[in-house]
Amino acid sequence: MLSKKLEKVLNQQVEKEGYAANLYLAMASWADGKGLEGISNWFYAQHMEEIQHMLKFIQYINERGGKAVVPSFEQPPMDFKNVKNAFEASLEHEQMVTKSINNIVGICLEEKDFTTHNWIQWFVDEQLEEESSVQSLLDKLDLLGDGNLYMFDRDIMGMRAAGETE
Ligand code: FEO
Repeated sequence: MLSKKLEKVLNQQVEKEGYAANLYLAMASWADGKGLEGISNWFYAQHMEEIQHMLKFIQYINERGGKAVVPSFEQPPMDFKNVKNAFEASLEHEQMVTKSINNIVGICLEEKDFTTHNWIQWFVDEQLEEESSVQSLLDKLDLLGDGNLYMFDRDIMGMRAAGETE
């Protein structure tokens, strides 16, 4: 059975994963509207991954005798200055999510909930991958420069969600 403290932070994580899903959807839609097919596909795939993350938290909370709460979500931004700005916002969000996952790991240890500690390791690994794949796309953008967005878009085409870009 989950402690009340863990139930609360896991539910807060449901909101963070759901917001991430919406943020990526907003980025996908923005890129789609600009005809950046490869980039929008990448963000759409990322959106689907975040939906899966949210589901994992909901199902785990319920499985462990807690009550999962489907929250309301803040509206994500509709516009981004440019492609680099969208990827920078992704990285910033992923870093925030990593901190939040690490905080939950700490609470698992405090509460001696080794089952949840074990379960959440998947997310610890996932965050490492997500941050590094967004970072490598940002590096690539820097390398290509602003004039080569077409090349970047073509390059990213076929790449799926973050975990599969390496
Ligand atoms: Fe589910 Fe990208 O954090």
